[in-house]
Amino acid sequence: MPRPDPQHTPGRNSPWEWLRRLHGPLAPVEIAPGVRVWLTLTYEATAQALCSPTLSNDPRHWEEFHSGRVGEAGLLPLTAPRDNALTSDGETHRRRRAPLVDGLAKLTARGMGQEITAITDRLIDSFIERGHADLIGEFATRLPILVLSRAYGLSDGNGLRLAELASRFWDCDPATADPAAAELEAFFAELTARARRWPGEDLASWMITHPSRLSETEIRHGLMSYIAAGNDLTAHLIANTLVELLADPAPERGPVLSHVDVGRAVRRACRVRPPLRVWPARYAIQDTDIAGVRIGAGEGVAIGFEPAHEDPALAHHVEDAEHTLLTWGAGTHTCPARSLAWEITEQGVTAVLRRLREPRLALRVEELRPRPGPLLNAFDALPVRFVPGRPASATRALGPGRPARPRPRRRGKGRAWLTRWWCH
Ligand code: HEM
Repeated sequence: MPRPDPQHTPGRNSPWEWLRRLHGPLAPVEIAPGVRVWLTLTYEATAQALCSPTLSNDPRHWEEFHSGRVGEAGLLPLTAPRDNALTSDGETHRRRRAPLVDGLAKLTARGMGQEITAITDRLIDSFIERGHADLIGEFATRLPILVLSRAYGLSDGNGLRLAELASRFWDCDPATADPAAAELEAFFAELTARARRWPGEDLASWMITHPSRLSETEIRHGLMSYIAAGNDLTAHLIANTLVELLADPAPERGPVLSHVDVGRAVRRACRVRPPLRVWPARYAIQDTDIAGVRIGAGEGVAIGFEPAHEDPALAHHVEDAEHTLLTWGAGTHTCPARSLAWEITEQGVTAVLRRLREPRLALRVEELRPRPGPLLNAFDALPVRFVPGRPASATRALGPGRPARPRPRRRGKGRAWLTRWWCH
């Protein structure tokens, strides 16, 4: 399968177009060394695969999953079956999804706008006087998790640490992704136990008291999926929108960046550089026809978000029309946090354009390094220069480049270190 490429552009020279010409709407590919899947390449095949009742979300139906190669490729933390909504089907899926949807509705009702503004201001304050910054490391990867930390009732330090762990999932290196998954799971076990003892106005407490009556493991895995699914994807949607605006300003820029139509720029980034590029997420429980291609029982299907958005058959749609985008999925597993992720992205990008004077990429796009792993459209760093400005507030809770709260030294093998970490 083609690797992520910063210079990738849709059109006749795109590797997706080449695969489409060779195989049609789905191609047999190796998503990672030795891991074979069908990759959807057209809009129709992608939408069908996302919604097909005979394609399961549970990887236990996938022959490859039992081969050991998925683990060797570092894909396990993202694809392993867990007691969450993402990897379950039918009634079990509905029961596990309902608390997520209800929890998000409570958050939205509470109104996240002001919190997002306060966090963006605080982050930008930490580097605005310097005249240069890494808008991924110092802004985009921090903003979503700091917002989500409020929902979890977590300190900023704990949130940043969780984001760092979840981020390793996406780099697909088993040496770092597997231990990160174990640490995240241990953290959420502790968090759930605390919420049971001291319930509050937070996601864990709401999940515990939800009429779905989730088990301890379901709560833990549900909370984990929020962090794993949420932070990196939102962070890289913010970053990819900024790349589109700062590197290739037309047609959004207009006379000045502060007057850009940010919503349109985000839609464009969703289409041309969707943060989730490819997603191995469906497994045939019986022989299934997708866009005229037969998928055998036990075979896996990877959802090709990027190839689907480049499908020439889409060209007759209004460019950037949101309803043509599959970025957030389709069908019963559609992202429940779409509005929240959108709000964070729109506000984040708006704040950068509003507060930084004359921001410019410090490197050409082709010099930006893609993150490792086949699944994301994401860069390692986004160095920018701008005219130094003044902080919006004197508060500097998050200093420039400040690492996530340091982990306390781990003594012994017990879980006590987690409690100490928590209590910091
Ligand atoms: C730009 C940001 C995001 C993108 C592009 C995105 C994309 C997606 C997609 C494509 C799916 C469907 C997966 C499937 O059908 O297998 C999904 C599901 C999910 N997303 Fe998001 N997501 C984003 C942000 C978030 C955030 C911020 C959260 C948490 C607060 C979140 C939580 C979830 C969960 C829990 C599911 C599983 C839902 C289910 O299976 O019923 N996502 N997301």
